[in-house]
Amino acid sequence: MKPLSVMLSMLVIGITSSAAMAEGADLVNASLPNASLPNISPANSELVNRGAYIARAADCMACHGESYTGGTAIETPMGEIYSTNITPSKRYGIGKYTENDLKNALQKGRAPNHMLYPAMPYPSYNGMKEEDISALFAYLQTVPVVDEAPKQKTDLPFPFNIRALMLGWNFLNVPSTEKRDGLNETQQRGEYIVNNLEHCGTCHTPRNSTMGFDKKMYLSGAQLGNWHAPNITPDESSGIGSWSEQDIITYLRTGELDQRAYAGGPMGEAVAHSTQYLKNEDLSAIASYLKAVPAIQTDDKLSAVDVSRLPTRVSESITHDLLAQKDYLAQAKTEVSNGSNSPKSLYLATCGSCHGVDGYGQPDAQYSPIVGLSSIRRDKPDALVNIILHGVVGSTNTSPIMPAFSDQLDNEQIASIANYVRVNFGGLASSAVSAADVDRIATTGADKPFLIKYAGLLAILGIIVAIAVIIFIVRAIIRNRRRR
Ligand code: HEC
Ligand code: HEC
Ligand code: HEC
Repeated sequence: MKPLSVMLSMLVIGITSSAAMAEGADLVNASLPNASLPNISPANSELVNRGAYIARAADCMACHGESYTGGTAIETPMGEIYSTNITPSKRYGIGKYTENDLKNALQKGRAPNHMLYPAMPYPSYNGMKEEDISALFAYLQTVPVVDEAPKQKTDLPFPFNIRALMLGWNFLNVPSTEKRDGLNETQQRGEYIVNNLEHCGTCHTPRNSTMGFDKKMYLSGAQLGNWHAPNITPDESSGIGSWSEQDIITYLRTGELDQRAYAGGPMGEAVAHSTQYLKNEDLSAIASYLKAVPAIQTDDKLSAVDVSRLPTRVSESITHDLLAQKDYLAQAKTEVSNGSNSPKSLYLATCGSCHGVDGYGQPDAQYSPIVGLSSIRRDKPDALVNIILHGVVGSTNTSPIMPAFSDQLDNEQIASIANYVRVNFGGLASSAVSAADVDRIATTGADKPFLIKYAGLLAILGIIVAIAVIIFIVRAIIRNRRRR
């Protein structure tokens, strides 16, 4: 979520919400009255509006789109899986669904005529409460019908196109989380939202060898293609142990924490479609719960922000004088094109026009400040290097994008910029990213032959097939017995 659009939406909320104004709440803390949710209308019943809130809190739109027409590609190691139309269209959507059909799809990954792939997060929705599913069902009936199939259809290679295999997978991996003992009522609410609605673990929990959740490493961070979803357990050195509950609330509400963290890429989408709209009490419940989960230390440690080493915000520097900045940057560009490989010139010439001379971005455009961000303070430079290599597609249609630099810069230059950013804007005492690191990160990507890369997975699939066969046989036996 972009700071400006968040601020704008907060502003709209502040203006339209008489309740919030009456409470005199500040913008970040303003409790979100139902009327300000884009998909909630006073013309609808309370049940429908409750369903609309559940749709937000379970982030259905991140994948099915704000108009529920589907077509979003979810990248998996087996290929792209496209979300489907879930408007009440009888032909292309879920117009023929009964409430029970929806319940089966959400909790068991079972559509009326086929098994779903777990790209639809049913391993998490498995624990969704009946009353929330009823409300969601009532709400989805009121969504405008779109009689159109998504442009692209899922077409996975054999053997993954045998959807019945999911029976075996589900047997191993559903539900994806367990209820924790000893939580107070608020934390229990937080647990429900995190695990069964927002499905935070889909991104933040690493996968086991069958691609289910690695429950022992719950919320301790995972690689998602080119993005790294960090450790969000309360570990001090590698997680978010240093964050207060209010920090967590602010981050989920606005998509940023000043000089500390920013919600880009997939997290930006989660904030844009979902968490920014949650009620205060629900964000508090999430924060309280995240403080109560077991702290897990991973090897990707995080240096604390050393504020004294960060550039000052509005300074004698020329960051905020755009004209002067333009000249300054033009000079760096000339130096680089004349062969200079000084880290500073490289940064200024390549990144400075958007992120500013001092890393504070452009205050008015939506170019994010990068000073102090957790993604540039980690022991592993992977997150930062991936961002430079692959760029960032903004989380909403109107967000600016960051271009990919893998074609434009060589590994040496990328390493050099990464070190410059980590030391000067991350406040690290030193940084030793090398061209070899960049090469490693760039080649951990997608270009290995399918069979080599997924041989392990295919072997496991053999096991899954075996389990599926066993389940079929056991079922047949039970059915036979019943008949007798
Ligand atoms: C992370 C992405 C993601 C999220 C979040 C998500 N879905 Fe899905 N959903 C999918 C994908 C992908 C499919 C198609 C799966 C397949 O082809 O097997 C799907 C399929 C479905 C189906 C089956 C449609 C059919 O073909 O009959 C229903 C119903 C559905 N989703 C409802 C929902 C609802 C309601 C929510 C929110 C509570 C939701 N989904 C959230 C990705 C998602
Ligand atoms: C679609 C994947 C996805 C989902 C769902 C998701 N996250 Fe994230 N999250 C990420 C990624 C990727 C980042 C890193 C963002 C960046 O560096 O710009 C992140 C960053 C964060 C951070 C910042 C951590 C740091 O050290 O900077 C917090 C806190 C967080 N997520 C909490 C949550 C919570 C709570 C939920 C559920 C309500 C959630 N996330 C759901 C992918 C996701
Ligand atoms: C054309 C403008 C542009 C240029 C040039 C650019 N960026 Fe960005 N950058 C962006 C935008 C826009 C975002 C925020 C994207 C989003 O909303 O997720 C961003 C985000 C980032 C982030 C935050 C990632 C996170 O979510 O934690 C970092 C770090 C970053 N850029 C570093 C760089 C570096 C280093 C360079 C130079 C190699 C660079 N950028 C060049 C526009 C740019």
